[in-house]
Amino acid sequence: EVSGAEFYEHSFPKFFGAVMAANDESSALQAIKYKRGSLQLLDQRLLPFRTEYLDVPDVKAAWTQIRDMVVRGAPAIGCTGALAMAVELHALKGAGAAFGSAQEALEFINQTLDFLVTSRPTAVNLADACNRLKAVAATAAAADGASAVGVCGAVIEAAEAYLAEDIASNKAMGAFGSAALLAAVKAAGRGTAGGRVRVLTHCNTGSLATAGYGTALGVIRALSEQGKLEHAFCTETRPYNQGARLTAFELAHDQLPATLICDSAAAALMAAGQVDAVVVGADRVVANGDTANKIGTNALAIACGHFGIPFFIAAPTTTIDPDLPSGDHIVIEQRCHTEVTHHKGERVAAHGVGVWNPSFDVAPGSLIEGIITEKGMVPKKDGAYQIRSFMHNLGL
Ligand code: MRU
Repeated sequence: EVSGAEFYEHSFPKFFGAVMAANDESSALQAIKYKRGSLQLLDQRLLPFRTEYLDVPDVKAAWTQIRDMVVRGAPAIGCTGALAMAVELHALKGAGAAFGSAQEALEFINQTLDFLVTSRPTAVNLADACNRLKAVAATAAAADGASAVGVCGAVIEAAEAYLAEDIASNKAMGAFGSAALLAAVKAAGRGTAGGRVRVLTHCNTGSLATAGYGTALGVIRALSEQGKLEHAFCTETRPYNQGARLTAFELAHDQLPATLICDSAAAALMAAGQVDAVVVGADRVVANGDTANKIGTNALAIACGHFGIPFFIAAPTTTIDPDLPSGDHIVIEQRCHTEVTHHKGERVAAHGVGVWNPSFDVAPGSLIEGIITEKGMVPKKDGAYQIRSFMHNLGL
């Protein structure tokens, strides 16, 4: 048997032994590299064995790279979209000189963002980022003395702010989420004698899924920083293996005590009394707290309900969609059947069988112990999430 540490030590001797800050320039965990006029994405399809960055010269390239999973994870997709718009505008000869007027620039920006948002449908962060840039562009175009250069410059700055905000909000979620999770575990009479917790997570919600640090994995990082993490369990996350390839990589990189399990082993692990809490990310949280996240999330929420294990969602407010009343309205992305039938290009499934491959499912709000955001926990009234008033009070 090869331990996670030995395996990664063998594969990545240069990374091992150094706990590097997320989004550090030297870090293997930096999904997005940006400086004005230049955007690169870590090709996550090659992880954990190769670290290669691809250039993103414009929105068209970003659309393809998002669809093809070069970058994935709701917040990282939102940041990528915003920054792709920024580099494209920067390249258009001096940020706006290519446009005849502010109105022309505004129309181009709106059309380009409408196209970008079609790359992946379920995660709302990309739509949120595009809407934010559209609003900034509209305001700049309506200002006295508006110019194309001014409109483009305002959009570039807004895209850059979006990236910076994502890291800050992940750190805030780590603080709020670790406190809420520890309190819930204590209230459930779970955890170790020393007050430490064994936490299970699903998919990848870490530095690789965000601008840095992570959402659910950020909560696990925060627990570890506080000396409260007894153990982290990550699911392999079939069929795309974001857990086995990416979360396992991040946990090993940070040298956290961690174990990889098959998705189908989660209930058995809970039954064995090894899980004190579950925390996962989200692709879209709607008005009643129903939450779309990686396929298998609903099964985890149901199992937690059965065993009385607190089940948490960690998601920035950019993942909240208060306009949809319930999870039934969320468009669930269907992905290619070969993700299920093939392994490394080789067919492993019997010929002649059909395939159903939804990328996400919806965990009902009623099964969610708490929704962690960068602004604190979403309030509940009589057990029901108050998403709309929460967002309204934040001016969002
Ligand atoms: O298909 P993916 O890899 O983009 O799915 C990602 C997830 O479902 C994550 O759990 C979610 O986006 C939260 S990422 C912080």
